[in-house]
Amino acid sequence: MKRFLILLVAQCLLLPILAQKPAIRPGALWLDRDGNPINAHGGGVLYHRGTYYWYGEHKSAHSSSAFVGITCYRSKDLIHWTNCGVVLPVDTQKASDIEKGCIMERPKVIYCPATRKFVLWFHLELKDRGYAAARAAVAVADKPTGPFSYLRSGRVNPYCYPADWTAADRQRCDTLSQTRYQQWWTAPWREAIRQGLFLKRDMAGGQMARDMTLFVDDDGRAYHIFSSEDNLTLHLAELSTDFTYHTGRYWRIAPGGQNEAPVLFKHNGRYWLITSGCTGWAPNEARMFSADNLTGPWTQWPTPCRGKEARTTFGGQGTYALPVAGRPDAFIFLADIWCPKHPSDARYVWLPITFEGGHPVIEWRDEWSPASFWK
Ligand code: DGJ
Repeated sequence: MKRFLILLVAQCLLLPILAQKPAIRPGALWLDRDGNPINAHGGGVLYHRGTYYWYGEHKSAHSSSAFVGITCYRSKDLIHWTNCGVVLPVDTQKASDIEKGCIMERPKVIYCPATRKFVLWFHLELKDRGYAAARAAVAVADKPTGPFSYLRSGRVNPYCYPADWTAADRQRCDTLSQTRYQQWWTAPWREAIRQGLFLKRDMAGGQMARDMTLFVDDDGRAYHIFSSEDNLTLHLAELSTDFTYHTGRYWRIAPGGQNEAPVLFKHNGRYWLITSGCTGWAPNEARMFSADNLTGPWTQWPTPCRGKEARTTFGGQGTYALPVAGRPDAFIFLADIWCPKHPSDARYVWLPITFEGGHPVIEWRDEWSPASFWK
């Protein structure tokens, strides 16, 4: 009788789990094929030769700093993920850029056909320096699963003005005086920011580079999009043909608009950019911009999010728009629900992007299956 009761209870507990059909459940715990929670935060996904590779930040239970490195998981169906391990580990050597305890955020990987290398860029903050370094870091690998060789880090595009600035724009920026605008958020300060106050400040050392993503356009050119100028202005910076350097050509997006977490994709010839505001680990309402040319001008639209918790981007912050292979109309919006008290427990929100009148819409779903894309 006792054995029967134990069996019955076990069945009652297990059956609902076993009966669950394979699906993506935004905000729920997402286990890899070994049964461990997927640890790949602030990530991006690369599709290469029939397989999706998900790269992200490894977070520990008590800290958002990097004590392990950048992780990779692979999948064919976008639901079941196999852990491929740490593709770029932190360095145990003191004073290394990527010394254990540094901050490695928002890693993204693209494939460079010219060099046949996988190129990883991420936002790097040096150990014990908070978010002051604001550097971009790059590493390369021969295989999508690494290992990645660390190349370098630094601020971006020193001594370069935005590519679309006129001589008058440059001159106006050159005459801005840092000491004249000591008080932030005043109307004259905002106008000075728009005119390039911080851009001028960082001219010699290079522009700040924090939250970031990568984008490869149809012509094969790659771009690095990041929050710059103290998170006030986004920069879209062109990468060299091997994807490992900045060319010095860049364009500012929404100067002074305080955008983080850039997510960029192209649909029907139009570029869409989804961002967040700057509220640390707390969620806020997503913003959306579109442009007919990648270099702008960009037009702002209301948030694409709809349904439960749309006002806070479903409690998350965007990190990537994943184009579904072979389906030019299908994209998945990837976001993180940060959990600063238990960073590794930050959850993933993956939702399909649909289009209404050509405009992206992201609607909350408790669960959904990417199989619908291939039906
Ligand atoms: C928001 C950013 O989007 C995150 O990547 C991280 O840098 C946090 N801010 C830190 O507060």
